Amino acid sequence: MSDLPSSVRALVADASGSESRLEIRSLPTADLGEGDVVIAVSWSSVNFKDGLASRKDGKVARIDPIVPGIDLAGTIVEPGSSDLAVGESVLVHGYDTGVAHHGGYSEYARVPAGWVVPLPAGLTGRQAMTLGTAGFTAALSVIALEEHGLTPDAGPVLVTGATGGVGSVAVSILAARGYKVTAVTGKEDAAEWLHSLGAADVVDRASIGDASRPLRRETWAGAVDCVGGETLAAVLASLSYGAAVAASGNTGGVPVPTTVFPFILRSVSLLGIDSVQCPIERRREVWARLADDLRPPLLDDLATDVVELSGVPEALERILSGGNRGRTLVRLR
Ligand SMILES: NC(=O)c1ccc[n+]([C@@H]2O[C@H](COP(=O)([O-])OP(=O)(O)OC[C@H]3O[C@@H](n4cnc5c(N)ncnc54)[C@H](OP(=O)(O)O)[C@@H]3O)[C@@H](O)[C@H]2O)c1
Repeated sequence: MSDLPSSVRALVADASGSESRLEIRSLPTADLGEGDVVIAVSWSSVNFKDGLASRKDGKVARIDPIVPGIDLAGTIVEPGSSDLAVGESVLVHGYDTGVAHHGGYSEYARVPAGWVVPLPAGLTGRQAMTLGTAGFTAALSVIALEEHGLTPDAGPVLVTGATGGVGSVAVSILAARGYKVTAVTGKEDAAEWLHSLGAADVVDRASIGDASRPLRRETWAGAVDCVGGETLAAVLASLSYGAAVAASGNTGGVPVPTTVFPFILRSVSLLGIDSVQCPIERRREVWARLADDLRPPLLDDLATDVVELSGVPEALERILSGGNRGRTLVRLR
């Protein structure tokens, strides 16, 4: 038996009142949720979805109260039915974590064995959380584009929402693989940082156009889009013949005002990217690649901020307001 404490310190989002409240509470260990694997959490991170899960109007949390945090990394305290050993380093993200099951903003987590990914060799827990769900989603996007046939000599590749979590990791992975990356950002002062991650060009959001025209000049051999809305429509309109966009997000809006023309006149493809239900075997393979050929060369530079639990509410506000840059780490111990 392990020496689990009877209660754990966690950041709890409580939507029982008229406004949601975020506060650090002492939670009975017995209330950590279903599962038989207990993890001493060392690191978590801040994703856009964590911002939504912490708000009553975010329409993401499916239990109340909830410990948000869709990402966590730490060491095994109780291996349960898994084939993992006490003390082994692991990570967990997605499935119900931080939305319908208590997540990573907690000293300990209890999860089903089928959600756990052993930390791949070459990545520390801190580095795994520097990547987190955002980095995993960027990797899924690059893999999807390459499986569709994208190669560096096909032409420039666009990344939207480039300073954000998904965007910044995508810029970094693509540039390291030899792609000429054009980074799209709404932040005026971000060009130097994006160039340092490997972007060949940095352009303003407005310059890629809007949804007013179904087709624009064929420009991009591929695209990683985590913005959605009009931005995704503009990307579809300017992909080269036969190219694809890997779409994962909606920070810029949910409706995509496009037409059939990019699809039926230019044979472009819209590749849907989902990290949440990605099967565990595939998840483990992608993490192994994130530690290897998809590893961003300046991985530690992507961690732009490190906060304790007390600093998480401010970081969640920042990411919801579109002001995030890179990845914010949450240190639990
Ligand atoms: N499908 C999946 O499995 C999956 C996984 C992870 C994330 N996501 C989704 O992907 C999106 C990004 O997540 P994230 O954690 O990377 O968030 P993030 O760090 O906030 O990055 C999003 C970026 O989008 C840009 N942006 C924000 N508001 C915008 C607006 N109104 N119009 C255009 N651009 C805007 C900003 O970049 P610039 O200022 O540089 O333009 C922002 O930094 C979210 O919608 C998230 O839910 C989906």
